[in-house]
Amino acid sequence: EIEAKIDSLLAIMTLDEKIGQTVLYSSIEDQTGPIMDPNYVDYLKAGEIGAIFNATGSAFTRELQKVAVEETRLGIPLLFGYDVIHGYKTIFPIPMGEASSWDLDLMEKTAAVAAKEAAAEGLHWTFAPMVDIARDPRWGRISEGAGEDTYLGSEIARVRVKGFQGNDLADRYSILACAKHYAAYGAAQAGRDYHTVDMSMNTLWETYLPPFKAALDQDVATFMTAFNELNGVPATGNDYLLKDILRDEWGFNGFVVTDYTSINEMVQHGTAENLEHAGELAMNAGVDMDMQGGVFKDHMKKSVQDGKITISRLDQAVRDILRLKFKLGLFDDPYKYSNEQAEKEIILHKDHLELSRDAARKSMVLLKNKNNVLPLKNSQKIALMGPLADDQFHIIGNWAAKGDRDGIAVSVKEGFEAQKKNFSYTIGCQIEDTSKPDFTDAIKIAKEADAVVMVMGESERMSGEAASRTNLLLPGYQQKLIAEIKKTGTPIVLVLYNGRPLNLTYENQAADAIVEAWFPGTSGGHAVVDVLYGDYNPSGKLTVTFPRNVGQVPIHYNMKKTGRPEDMPGAHDRYVSKYIDVANSPLYPFGYGLSYTSFSYGKPVLSSATLSEDEAITVSITVTNTGSHDGEEVVQLYIKDRFASITRPVKELKAFEKIYLKKGETKTVEFTITSEQLKFYNNKLEFINEAGDYDLFLAGTSDHEFTNSFKLDYQKPKS
Ligand code: IFM
Repeated sequence: EIEAKIDSLLAIMTLDEKIGQTVLYSSIEDQTGPIMDPNYVDYLKAGEIGAIFNATGSAFTRELQKVAVEETRLGIPLLFGYDVIHGYKTIFPIPMGEASSWDLDLMEKTAAVAAKEAAAEGLHWTFAPMVDIARDPRWGRISEGAGEDTYLGSEIARVRVKGFQGNDLADRYSILACAKHYAAYGAAQAGRDYHTVDMSMNTLWETYLPPFKAALDQDVATFMTAFNELNGVPATGNDYLLKDILRDEWGFNGFVVTDYTSINEMVQHGTAENLEHAGELAMNAGVDMDMQGGVFKDHMKKSVQDGKITISRLDQAVRDILRLKFKLGLFDDPYKYSNEQAEKEIILHKDHLELSRDAARKSMVLLKNKNNVLPLKNSQKIALMGPLADDQFHIIGNWAAKGDRDGIAVSVKEGFEAQKKNFSYTIGCQIEDTSKPDFTDAIKIAKEADAVVMVMGESERMSGEAASRTNLLLPGYQQKLIAEIKKTGTPIVLVLYNGRPLNLTYENQAADAIVEAWFPGTSGGHAVVDVLYGDYNPSGKLTVTFPRNVGQVPIHYNMKKTGRPEDMPGAHDRYVSKYIDVANSPLYPFGYGLSYTSFSYGKPVLSSATLSEDEAITVSITVTNTGSHDGEEVVQLYIKDRFASITRPVKELKAFEKIYLKKGETKTVEFTITSEQLKFYNNKLEFINEAGDYDLFLAGTSDHEFTNSFKLDYQKPKS
C-alpha cells in the first residue's frame, strides 16, 4: 500500500522536487564541519529540502513543518534529524562507558528513553548508534561506540537500534535509527580522525562489518557513510560497500545519508574532479541523501540531464526516503511529533533521571581495590578533590548537545552532599593547568582525612569527533597532584572521567583504588557515590583494552597469533614477538573489572565433546559468589581455533551472560555453541567452518587460561 502511494507521488513530482527529497540541511550553524549555506528556509519554501537536522523543540519543528506542508506544491512533510547519541536531555553514560555494563536490556532502555525525549521535541531520526569497532585509544571517537569486540559490538548495535526504533516505526515515540559510520571509520590510521583506512578484506568482513549487519537485521532504517576512504575508495563513493554489500547482498531498503560534507570531501580525497563529479560518484554508489554538502541540490539536475545519473536511480533514492516518512506516519499527521504538552511531561522525567543513575553505576569499572579500601564507610572522613569533583559540565561527556551542563547534572560533590557524607573539599588542580598549581589546601585536607577521593580525567572535548590524542596520560598536573597526596600516606581512591582507554600505569601503582566512571551522565554524581560507598557493587567490565603505554597500540585481546609467541616452549628469550622495554600484556584487559565480592568458577561441562554442523552442544558452568557482598558477574565464553587454513585470533568472545548472585549463592550458566559461531572468512572470502580442535574457557575476564577443549566434527554437506 505504501509502495502504491509512493508510485502516485513519484508520478507527479518534478525533477527538482525529487532532488529536494535527497537534500538535508542543518538549521543552525553546525560546528562539526564547514558552514555550507544558511539559507535553508528559502530552499525549504522552494521545495528543495526534504529533511532538516539540528532543529529541535516542538514549536520550532512545527513551524518548519508548516512551511513544508503548507507552502510547498506537494506538501511533503520534512524529516527532522539530530545526534541523539547517549540521551537527549537526560544524558546517560557515553556509549563506550555504557557498553561496559554488558547489560543489553539496560542499553535498549536508555536508547528508548533517548528516543522518547527526542520524539517529544519533534525529532524523527537519530544519527545513532555508532557501531564502529574501535581499537585505537588515540581515536577520540572510540568513546561513541561499543568497544573493540565484534560479537559484543553486534549485540549492542542490535539492542540500541531496537531501543530507538521500538517495535513499530508508527509508534509516537519511535524514531529512525542510523547505523554509522559505514564502514571501518574506527580503523583510521594512527588513530587520527578522518584519516585513511587500509585493511584486508578478511578484517573488513570479520571485524568491522558484522555490527552493521546486526543493525540491519534489526531493521535499522538508515545508514550513514563514513568520512574515511577504504582501501583507496572514499566510503561515500564506495559502490562495493553501498551497492554490492549493503543493497545486493544484505537487501537493505532504508536510505543512506552521508556524513556531513563527505560528498564534497571526495574532491579533497582526490577521487572526484569537482563537486558535480563527486555527487555522481556518491549517488551512483548508493548514497540517497546529502547531509549539508549542497552537492545534490546544486549539481544533481545537470548530472541527470547529462545522463550521468539515471532517473531510475534518483527515483529509487526518493522512494526509500518517502517510504520512511510514510512509515513514521508523517503523511497522516505531519505534526505528530511536535507536541508541547508531551515535551513538558516527558523531558527529564524522574524515571529517566533514575535510569541515568542506574546506567551510570552499572557502567563503572572497578580497576583496582587494594586492601579493600572500597567501599568507603560512612564513619570515615573523606578529602574530596580533583578538577572534576565539583563538575557539572564535563560529566555528561561529548555529543550531548541538549544535555544541561549547568544546573541539572549532578556533580560528585553534590552527590556527597545529597547523601550527607562526611567530607571536605578543595579542587587541587584544573584539568589542564599550564603552570604548577598550589597543592597546599589539597595536602592539608588529605592529611586530616581517612581516605582521599580524587575525581580526575579528561575534559569532554578531549574525546569525541576531531579529538585524537597521541598522549594517553592524564592531562595537566593531575599526576603531580596524585604524587603529592601519596606522600601524605592517606589511601587514595581515584575516580576517572575519560572517553578513551588512558595510560594509567602510574595511577595503577600510586592509587589504592581506581573507579573508571567514564563520562557518567546527568545523574553521574549520585552514581559515583553509590559505588564508592557500596550502595551499588560495581559490575562493569572493560570493552576496550587499556594499554601500558601508547607504544603498545594497536592492542586488543583478540590479536592474531604469531609464529614466535613469547611463551613458545623452548623459545629464545630475545627473538620472540615482544618489546624490549614493556610487557606484551595490557595494563587492564578486555572483559576485566573487579567487584566488592569475589566469584569462583567451576569446571565447564560440555554436553558433547564434538560439535557437528547442524547439532549444537551446550557448555555449562557453576559460578559462586564467594565474597561478602551481593553482586553481579559477567560470565564470558571465549573460544580459540587451534588450527585453520588461515591465521586466527588467539581467542574470541562468543557469548556472555550477566548474572546476579547473593553472597554465598551458586548459579549454573549454560551457553549453546553452534558451528555457526565458529565460522570465519577463509582466503577466498568464503564464510566457512573447518574441521579441527577448539579450546574454550569461561571466566570473568579475557585474560585467563584456557580450561577445556572440544573438537568440531564438521562434515561437508552432500551436494
Ligand atoms: O552524526 C554526525 C557524525 O557522526 C559526524 N559528523 C556530523 C554528523 C551530524 O552531526
